[in-house]
Amino acid sequence: MQILTGSQALQSVIANEKSTGKTIAFVPTMGHLHAGHRQLIRQAAQLADRVVVSIFVNPLQFGPDEDYAHYPRSLTADQDILRSEGVDYLFCPAVEEIYPQGTARQCRIIIPGLSDILCGVSRPEHFAGVATVVNKLFHIVQPDKALFGKKDFQQLTIIEHMVSDLCMPIAIVGVDTVRDIDGLALSSRNCYLNRHERAIAPLIHRTLQACRGAVACGYDSYHQLERYAYDKLKAVGFLPDYVSVRDARTLQPIDNNTEQMVMLVAASLGTTRLIDNVSLTIKPDMSFSALACH
Ligand code: PAF
Repeated sequence: MQILTGSQALQSVIANEKSTGKTIAFVPTMGHLHAGHRQLIRQAAQLADRVVVSIFVNPLQFGPDEDYAHYPRSLTADQDILRSEGVDYLFCPAVEEIYPQGTARQCRIIIPGLSDILCGVSRPEHFAGVATVVNKLFHIVQPDKALFGKKDFQQLTIIEHMVSDLCMPIAIVGVDTVRDIDGLALSSRNCYLNRHERAIAPLIHRTLQACRGAVACGYDSYHQLERYAYDKLKAVGFLPDYVSVRDARTLQPIDNNTEQMVMLVAASLGTTRLIDNVSLTIKPDMSFSALACH
């Protein structure tokens, strides 16, 4: 595995690969890698000739009171994981490489109607920071395909919109969430949970699964379902930020055009913010127009 810290150096090795007809799959990360990242990398390897992974803890996507300074960083262990997965190139730039003029005057990518809903309400700068850095990384890496986890469903939707709106010739691939044996979605931030919180954390997934089961059986009072999940999570010790059933394509409230739904949750346990989601599939014999009027 070749490790590069400079954008120009990476651009030149990628240009070289492309000149010999090789295709590139890209997995952007903030490091502290886990089995979810391994899954992204394994799928990337099946989709292209070369796999590029980036590790960059992006200051632009953290709010002033968030955990940028304390975000877990484990570059040596991460490199071992990436080597064992057969990754071809690791790009791990310094902050100055990505933001040579600093972050204050950096132009930002905002996706109206998507950056400012759900997690964007309590994290107003977050998705502009994500979209901006991913856009920069895409320009540096010039991948044919880029892979993102479905756990960060809103992030995935925003990247898909950005690529489409800006006519970027990159196929975005969403990869299923990897979970611990008790259902907790893997996240680099899970290491913040103490033993008590870790024992409670899988209840997010269990609650979402119960809602999914209810919808699969024909339950169609989505506001009630949101209320049920919110109250359930609150009762066991979470501080829910939101629980919301949305159109899986637009992330807007469901309407007559909705074909697939997703139920999304963000909730804090102590100081740790957890997110998760589940797709909701309606019994085939039920019409969406009836359901949308709940
Ligand atoms: O999901 C992440 O790890 C980050 O938000 C990403 C996409 C690497 C951008 O910094």
